[in-house]
Amino acid sequence: MDKPGDFDFSRRTVLKGAALSVALTAAPTVAGAAANAQAEGNGQPSLATVSFTVNGKAVSLKLDTRTTLLDALREHLKLTGSKKGCDHGQCGACTVIVDGRRINSCLSLAVMHGGDSVTTIEGLGGPGNLHPMQAAFVTHDGFQCGYCTPGQICSAVAVLDEIRDDIPSHVTADLSAAATLTPDELRERMSGNICRCGAYSNIVEAIVDVAGRRT
Ligand code: FES
Ligand code: FES
Repeated sequence: MDKPGDFDFSRRTVLKGAALSVALTAAPTVAGAAANAQAEGNGQPSLATVSFTVNGKAVSLKLDTRTTLLDALREHLKLTGSKKGCDHGQCGACTVIVDGRRINSCLSLAVMHGGDSVTTIEGLGGPGNLHPMQAAFVTHDGFQCGYCTPGQICSAVAVLDEIRDDIPSHVTADLSAAATLTPDELRERMSGNICRCGAYSNIVEAIVDVAGRRT
């Protein structure tokens, strides 16, 4: 039978062994982190200058190449009308118009837009000078909290341009016919813009109102 001293010795040995094992396991992890840091340029961001037009004004920004167009607009140009809802292409709150076509600005890197013309909600119109779509949203109560509204309006403006240019959607049955703003087309084309307040029916009324005035 073991004496008490034998048992104490054995237990210390086991604990020392465990500590050594943890140290050996941790060592490669730290080395790996250091290697990764070196591989990433010791944490120094890669910078690039991008020059584009935003709401009719030429701008030039020196940015971390990982900066999204949305962050460039909001954080660097202080154009906070475009909203960050999900930051991964799910909600449409960040919708802006680039060279006449709408995009989710959270899914696009700013450095991809050299030479482009970007229009945000601020560029469509403002107090005293509302764009017809902005005015229609007011007239038809097309919003409640308003968080999704800049994206909804940019999207709606671009949707009417898509219809005008005969660009088909997922539900367009006849690709050779002129595009029209049917209820199905409108629902499909605006389906990327989510409204948590559920102002959808009034948003549709606003868009149909502006579309009617265009035709
Ligand atoms: S913030 Fe861009 S899609 Fe939601
Ligand atoms: S008005 Fe509140 S999320 Fe659309």
